[in-house]
Amino acid sequence: MPSIVKINVLTVPDEQRETLEKRFASRAGAVESSDGFEWFELLRPVEGTDRYLVYTRWRDEASFQAWMEGPMKAAHRGGGDAGGRPAPAASDSQVWSFEVVQQAAPKS
Ligand code: HEM
Repeated sequence: MPSIVKINVLTVPDEQRETLEKRFASRAGAVESSDGFEWFELLRPVEGTDRYLVYTRWRDEASFQAWMEGPMKAAHRGGGDAGGRPAPAASDSQVWSFEVVQQAAPKS
């Protein structure tokens, strides 16, 4: 079964970029311990888009859903949505879903 990719696409106003990156710099670091988690990258836009991508890869959809229903909530405490948390740095977000069709790594 192929891995799946879930990308959280964040629209971040220029003046919020530093705030966003700082939040990720002090992220919970919990996702690494989630069953079925394979990869995470925070991608800063350079050219072609102004949206940050939070790239995550998972063994399967069930692993991602399990993370969303549990650890994700704790990992986003600093993201700001209610009750004294800081305001969100992103003005919009949307999730893109993919299946890995092919992949390659360098020959060692
Ligand atoms: C409203 C939508 C979302 C926003 C605005 C958002 C923003 C953020 C921010 C600012 C952080 C840094 C930690 C913090 O301050 O909370 C974070 C962590 C993270 N986000 Fe999101 N996020 C959202 C939903 C998602 C979704 C749907 C995914 C999955 C594709 C995702 C993947 C991650 C991961 C993997 C981390 C690191 C968690 C860890 O270290 O354990 N986020 N997010």
